[in-house]
Amino acid sequence: MSFEPRSIPVDPDAKGALASKGLDYRLIDPSDTGALDGWIDADHRGFHHARPREVTREYERRVMGERRLHGVFDPGVPDPNVPVATVSSWPTGLSVPGGRSVDGWAVSSVTVSPTHRRRGIARAMMEAELRSAKQAGAAVAMLTVTEATIYGRYGYAPAARAATIEIDRRRARWIGPSSPGRVHFVEPAALRDAAAAISRRAVARTPGEIDRWSGILDRMLGLVDPDSDASRALRAIRYDDEHGQPQGFAAFRVTREPNEPGWAEFDVLAAATDDAERALWRVLVEQDFVSGVRGRLRSVDEPIEWLLEDPRAVRVTEASDHLWVRIVDAAAALGARRYGAAGELALDIEDPLGYAAGRYTLLASADGRAVVHVPRADGSTDGAGAGSSGTTAAPKRERSRARASAEGSGSRSAARAAEPRSLKLDVRDLASIYLGGVRPSVLARAGRITASSNGALELADRMFASTRAPHLSIWF
Ligand SMILES: CC(C)(COP(=O)(O)OP(=O)(O)OC[C@H]1O[C@@H](n2cnc3c(N)ncnc32)[C@H](O)[C@@H]1OP(=O)(O)O)[C@@H](O)C(=O)NCCC(=O)NCCS
Repeated sequence: MSFEPRSIPVDPDAKGALASKGLDYRLIDPSDTGALDGWIDADHRGFHHARPREVTREYERRVMGERRLHGVFDPGVPDPNVPVATVSSWPTGLSVPGGRSVDGWAVSSVTVSPTHRRRGIARAMMEAELRSAKQAGAAVAMLTVTEATIYGRYGYAPAARAATIEIDRRRARWIGPSSPGRVHFVEPAALRDAAAAISRRAVARTPGEIDRWSGILDRMLGLVDPDSDASRALRAIRYDDEHGQPQGFAAFRVTREPNEPGWAEFDVLAAATDDAERALWRVLVEQDFVSGVRGRLRSVDEPIEWLLEDPRAVRVTEASDHLWVRIVDAAAALGARRYGAAGELALDIEDPLGYAAGRYTLLASADGRAVVHVPRADGSTDGAGAGSSGTTAAPKRERSRARASAEGSGSRSAARAAEPRSLKLDVRDLASIYLGGVRPSVLARAGRITASSNGALELADRMFASTRAPHLSIWF
């Protein structure tokens, strides 16, 4: 998706709604440093961060200058150049099952000053972001959340989880295979380019990860403020394969009291290969003079416990929702991923905001590719009606074959069946099953999804399964 941050005009509905409250909703011009700094100050205040130091401000200017920034201004406050509400957004890829990526719209920096809360400012901004996402051609909108009760009302739902994992050093005896390459300590600044290349490959193989913006690696590697105590405490390691090619990296710090063993803590471990992942874990868990290792934002199906003699050395101390997704264009979203099984499945999607409402018939073949039959403007679903990219109307022959394949080999009666198996679900439930993070049958047990038959649920479970659990390893 090519994008010029200010190419989409300010949303007129949000502008009107906020103007009726005496507030001015407008786009920030990043080349206006005064306006950008006011926005950055409001964002920091909204998240209860300290006032930015100059070095942080420079970093923020660089990152935010590439995004679409909105502020809500109140002419009645003592400093009217600092907005009372902020939001940022940008187009970015989201990795989906099958090693592919879907066009996404990332939303971040949602803050409303405590002096202006609960007047509908966040609602106006969030609804505007969905309209902008649609205009930009995104299939999904996405965000990470401070509280899990804010965004469901706009159709977002948890789609990928993340875990904090602790490993007790005394019990961590490695039984996994040795990787053929080597792990080296490297200076964080020297890792910068290799880290970007490795991250791209690690993101591509993990559903739920989003494309990295350039500044994030500077933050992860402590390069934004390299002289700060936090940055100087960071140690970086890199795995090079047997041919000397960098394939993974991690950055950790050991927190400890003087003369006491501490904890090795890391927020980043990115691996383009399984060898790299194992080798980096091994160096981290086998360190001496530490009580243990704590990894944050790790996958909920990390292989580490299968690499140690004592699986109880590993404790998941926290596992919760992390990436939230909102399906904006269901045909494009469904057509982008690969499916775990062949079959034909109709999805009757309810969407109070209208974006994804209707019947979408998903036709997956044995190689995991799918075509999506999309609703027509007149409400019917049959015949042609190609949706957005990656979707086409399914020819009848293909539909029969996929249906028969879903039923088991040679089932002619299935191929003749008039109606495909179907699920009725809310757009939020579609977001939750989209990356394979929860089985449709679990949401049916929770009373959220209704299936036309038991066979429909079994088929949906198999189709929406992802080989790798969806995982997002950053905040945005
Ligand atoms: C969360 C926040 C943005 C809400 O802003 P706001 O302008 O007060 O929200 P609105 O008045 O537009 O409320 C819209 C709806 O969200 C609900 N809501 C707002 N904040 C909520 C919260 N923290 N938890 C649950 N619901 C919340 C409101 O009750 C309202 O519900 P309704 O319209 O369905 O009746 C604001 O409180 C804030 O800046 N918090 C600190 C920073 C933060 O956590 N940002 C979120 C980043 S992910």
